[in-house]
Amino acid sequence: MKKSDRTARLAQSDIRAMTLACAKVNGINMSQGVCDTPVPPVVVQGAQQAMAQGHNIYSRFDGIPELRQAIAGKLAAYNRITADSDVNITVSAGATGSFQATCMALLNPGDEVILFEPFYAYHIQAIVAVEAVPRCVSMRPPDWTVDFKGLEQAITSRTKAIVVNTPGNPSGKVFTRRELEQIAEMACRHDVMVITDEIYEYFVFDGREHVSMASLPGMADRTITIGGYSKTFSITGWRIGYSVAEATWAKAIGAMSDVLYVCAPTPLQHGVAAGIRALGPSFYSDLTKEHQQKRDRFCGALAKAGLPPAVPQGAYYVLADVSRLPGKTSRERALYLLDKTGVAGVPGEAFFEGPEGSRFMRFCMAKTDTDLERASQAIERFKS
Ligand SMILES: Cc1ncc(COP(=O)(O)O)c(C=O)c1O
Repeated sequence: MKKSDRTARLAQSDIRAMTLACAKVNGINMSQGVCDTPVPPVVVQGAQQAMAQGHNIYSRFDGIPELRQAIAGKLAAYNRITADSDVNITVSAGATGSFQATCMALLNPGDEVILFEPFYAYHIQAIVAVEAVPRCVSMRPPDWTVDFKGLEQAITSRTKAIVVNTPGNPSGKVFTRRELEQIAEMACRHDVMVITDEIYEYFVFDGREHVSMASLPGMADRTITIGGYSKTFSITGWRIGYSVAEATWAKAIGAMSDVLYVCAPTPLQHGVAAGIRALGPSFYSDLTKEHQQKRDRFCGALAKAGLPPAVPQGAYYVLADVSRLPGKTSRERALYLLDKTGVAGVPGEAFFEGPEGSRFMRFCMAKTDTDLERASQAIERFKS
């Protein structure tokens, strides 16, 4: 018996491999995108209360009304997106669940989807898993400038969607309003959908604004907006995300979510709803401030060590140029750096189709201050 062709096409995760290598040497794991930062108590209490009060059964396939309403309020206030909580919003098992359900609802085998490179590997995998075809358009470091000519050339009659991840993993790129308008213009002209992954929407640095594609004129019906609370509330293990889409798409995405996992965990939906209701603007601005400080500390250390960072504009990863380290591939360089410093990062090949990845390593900076300081000092002490 052989595995399906679909399974054979899925790549092994470098992140998992580095996590294992890191555990062997008891190092500091900056490879995986998990937050080590604390969960807001109101979120934990909301979930505990829900469990104690008996909210332990399946919810509706698209989530509990309290959470959909809380998300609708947040979408109006923060994202400038108008959404009917009963029609447009589907709560999912993480943003990952939304992305997979969206791919299943939108794509046929052979349909093409454009992504910007460096990309988030899960996006590629989700597209490949439904037998659609990812097409990459490169962004240029250090600011990850979009190649609009390349984008225009990449759109074909088979293109069904463009994926925009802002703020981006691993690039930390925050797409400007102007860039999003240019992508929107092309999407309309070629009649393609836009799928946005905005999971890092609150991690936006240096006074930049987070702009949601669906808030641009004429884009609400053409955009599937995906978000979630894994990162904002440091609850990556809870699996609570959502999508927002025009009614027909929302219905299709909801049907696919139902097939995949029935619903997101009910008591945890209550916890997230309680958090959205209770936490005011200062929670989100503190989050930004805290992560900007982490970015500055760790990027400073990388620069001192001669591993120039492409300083991120948002999210909580940094791609550093490790080309001066010994090794032919970034995998070899990542293992070398782990051996010398005890700090694990992800080889850049995981985020690029072409050879450019071998120059880079990605580090996740969402660590406790203690771990981040230990990692920064180890990197600073490092002399090739
Ligand atoms: C761009 C991006 N989207 C989605 C996710 C996963 O989100 P969730 O935990 O909500 O599935 C991640 C996690 O690293 C991510 O970086």
